[in-house]
Order: sequence, then structure tokens, then C-alpha cells
Amino acid sequence: MKVLVLTGAGISAESGISTFRGSDGLWEGHKPQEVATPEAFADNPALVHRFYNDRRRQIQQATVRPNAAHQALALLETALGEDFLLVTQNVDNLHQRAGNSRVIAMHGELLKVRCNETGEIFDWHEDLTEGTPHPNNPLIQKSLRPHIVWFGETPFYLPQIEDAARQADVFISVGTSGTVYPAAGILSQTQSHCRTIEINPFPTPLSPKFDETIRQKASIAVPIVTQQIQDQSIIRG
Ligand code: OAD
Repeated sequence: MKVLVLTGAGISAESGISTFRGSDGLWEGHKPQEVATPEAFADNPALVHRFYNDRRRQIQQATVRPNAAHQALALLETALGEDFLLVTQNVDNLHQRAGNSRVIAMHGELLKVRCNETGEIFDWHEDLTEGTPHPNNPLIQKSLRPHIVWFGETPFYLPQIEDAARQADVFISVGTSGTVYPAAGILSQTQSHCRTIEINPFPTPLSPKFDETIRQKASIAVPIVTQQIQDQSIIRG
């Protein structure tokens, strides 16, 4: 049984990371859309760096840890192996910290930066500024940017994600508002035999299209659903 899971900011809400479209949706008076674009980076790189430096620091605070939903998905990967794939829109690394390795971070990762000139990707835990030198070539200047997919840019690994959606027997969408494409379009790439489940305390525009919607917090619902899948896959052999 092939299981594809898509996660969004809601799965990390209970780990203390605010969602994008919550009531406190502004950062220092800016909508995220105003700072998370290539245009904003070209116009005001210092502002954009500050926005992501804040976020990078936040996810490294001792209080920010994987919650029961992340942990349940790590257990499901252990049980299913190659039949499991996790696609996340989150850039917070909490799935990886919980133990998942079959993770596609389609919107990038906060703990990585990329060189605009060479395409190299570096692990990164510190603040980044325009003046931060390239780690191994001091001749390249002002080339580092957060390894994040900004509005207007193409998410990573779309062909692999589409493949996984077509092959999935179960598709679970957790904690995403279903408003940002192409992630929101993964549901429509699943085939008719695939059982589709949404976990979100609130309705989304996509809710009517799922076979089942579970109006619960991720930390409650994900452990239950993943246990049911493990029980079924044991029965099916
Ligand atoms: P959103 O902030 O748009 O949506 C978060 C969803 O999580 C909402 O539908 C909430 O109802 C739900 N939610 C809140 N608490 C929850 C909980 N405890 N358990 C389960 N669900 C809960 O976040 P995303 O859908 O992830 O893109 O946003 C998609 C993309 O838009 C992000 O990846 C980011 C953003 O702009 C980029 O940065 C490119």
C-alpha cells in the first residue's frame, strides 16, 4: 500500500511555529507575500534576509520540537519503507528531526542557503546578510540566498511528486490551507482508487473533494490515522 502524505504549516503549529495565514498573519507590518518574493529580495535584500533570519532563529529555539504528529509520520515511514513518501511545504525541518528521511521539502529549507551563481547548497544555522562571504570562494560576492521557494518561483521536485500522487493508494493532507498551488493540486493528481483524507480543524476550499475529512488537530488525528494504516498494511501482508 503506497502512502503519500502532504503537510503544511498546521502540522507545526503545535510545535510553536505560527502558520502563514493565521490571525497574526503579519510580520513587522508586512504580509509574507511581500517579503517572500524574488522582487522583494532584489529591492530590499536586508529586509528579506531579516525576515528569514528571524524564522531560522525561531526554528532553532529549544522550545520548538517535533510534536506527536511528526513523530507518528516517522513511525509510519519505518513501517512502510519505500511505500511511504512525505511531501512538505514546511521549511522548518521538523519532519527530518522527527526521523523521516523520505521527505521532499518542496518549498525549500530554512537551514540551507544557496549560491545564486554556482547553485551550490550549504547547511546553514546562522544569520545571513548581503555581506556574508561564500563559504569556499571569497571571490563570489553577494550570491547567497535562503534556500526557499519564493512566490513566483517553481517548487522543487514537482515531477517526482506527481509520480507519487499517481501511484498513491492513500493520500493524507495535514494542516494545509489548500490555497497555494501547485501543492494544492496534488490531490487532483491522485487516481480514483486512491483513498484521500484531509486532517485540519477547519474546512478548506479543497475539503469537499476529499473522501474523508477529519476536523481535528494534527497531534490528535495523525497518530490515529497512521496507526490504522499500519494495522491495515499488516493485515494485507
Ligand atoms: P497556511 O497557514 O496557509 O494554512 C495552515 C492550515 O493549518 C490552515 O488551514 C489551518 O486551519 C490548519 N491548522 C492550524 N492548526 C492546525 C493543527 N493544530 N493541526 C492541523 N491543522 C492545523 O499554511 P500552508 O497551507 O502550509 O509557501 O501554506 C502553504 C504555503 O503558503 C507555505 O508553504 C508558504 C505559504 O506562503 C511558501 O513559502 C512558498
